[in-house]
Amino acid sequence: MKINRNYRSLGKDYLFSEIARRVAAYKEEHPEANVIRLGIGDVTQPICPFIMDAMKQAAQDETRPETFCGYGPEQGYPFLRGALQKYYEGFGVELSADEIFVSDGAKSDLGNFLDLLDRDNRVLIPDPVYPVYRDTNLMDGRKILYMRSDRDNAFLPMPDPEAEADVIYLCSPNNPTGAAYTREQLSKWVEYANLREAVILFDAAYESFIEDPEVPHSIFEIPGARTCAAEFCSLSKTAGFTGIRCGYTVVPKELRREGESLRDMWLRRQTTKFNGVSYPVQRAAAAVFTPQGRQGCEQNRRIYKENARIISETLNRLGIWHVGGKNSPYIWMECPGGMTSWEFFDDLLHRAQVVGTPGSGFGANGEGFFRLTAFGTPEGTREAMERLSRCYGKERA
Ligand code: MLT
Repeated sequence: MKINRNYRSLGKDYLFSEIARRVAAYKEEHPEANVIRLGIGDVTQPICPFIMDAMKQAAQDETRPETFCGYGPEQGYPFLRGALQKYYEGFGVELSADEIFVSDGAKSDLGNFLDLLDRDNRVLIPDPVYPVYRDTNLMDGRKILYMRSDRDNAFLPMPDPEAEADVIYLCSPNNPTGAAYTREQLSKWVEYANLREAVILFDAAYESFIEDPEVPHSIFEIPGARTCAAEFCSLSKTAGFTGIRCGYTVVPKELRREGESLRDMWLRRQTTKFNGVSYPVQRAAAAVFTPQGRQGCEQNRRIYKENARIISETLNRLGIWHVGGKNSPYIWMECPGGMTSWEFFDDLLHRAQVVGTPGSGFGANGEGFFRLTAFGTPEGTREAMERLSRCYGKERA
């Protein structure tokens, strides 16, 4: 048996596993330390009870012969796909139910979708980037072209007509930088992709944090996107489903390459390799889109947005350059005192007992930057910012 040698081109650990390992080592040495975690983007606020009541009810359904469900419909139950159709209508986007695929989250589908793509495709990825796009393509041995995302382009790289990309990853609002494309900027990407017959894999996992009316929630708000894009979304950050697991992928019928419908290919792939999301989880997911569910999610989002405001205000006071935090739960800051990303990670952990994510873990251009998440608790976030001010305030004065 021969192994997939492409794994040799991956880093030793997935970024967030490496961070967890370093934090665990620190905790072992300092068991008394009150470590505040603003690293991985995991939510802290409990899920709205109305949503979980729908899940409890669905669990009860499984105990009665008249409501028991076995295997569900392959793309997801109509009650959830219908709710998603209505949600998209709110952005002015018409989808047919069979273009929506319910999944266990955006991360899995972003990786799984690569089953549809030949290994010879050239993949255009921004740097810094959510490591899943890079690592899943490295696993398959695809050639990656990196586009520079930096302070000069406000961490929103635009298409280079010379770049010969077949597959393009865009994430807006962006993980890790928090920057978000406007409608006009995204239109340029759609135009470029259609011209090249490339496909955009659009990660919209943070769309519910958008405040700016100029920033689209879905790439399908852009004319022409149906012929060049698939969209991946998740309820992890919208509804606190990081542990419950539910997402959805939209593949329009017009998305065709070499005479094949990518929507049909995705259905074929999913029906072979995936048996769907459990009925109780889909019931809970549908409850997210009811007025009560939306209100519950909004309450939590307000808490995270206030955290983002506090982080941003603290960094402003300390004179630390940063972006994000407005249409996004992530704040992307420059490391103080010219430290590298991992130096600052260690410094912050040892001096302030605060965990963030080193920018270089997201790519070479992330070096010298650092990501903080607004998903902490309000108390933890306030305390973390007080510690940050104590540790780095004087250095900069
Ligand atoms: C992150 O911290 O970047 C995210 O939580 C990771 C994820 O959503 O998989």
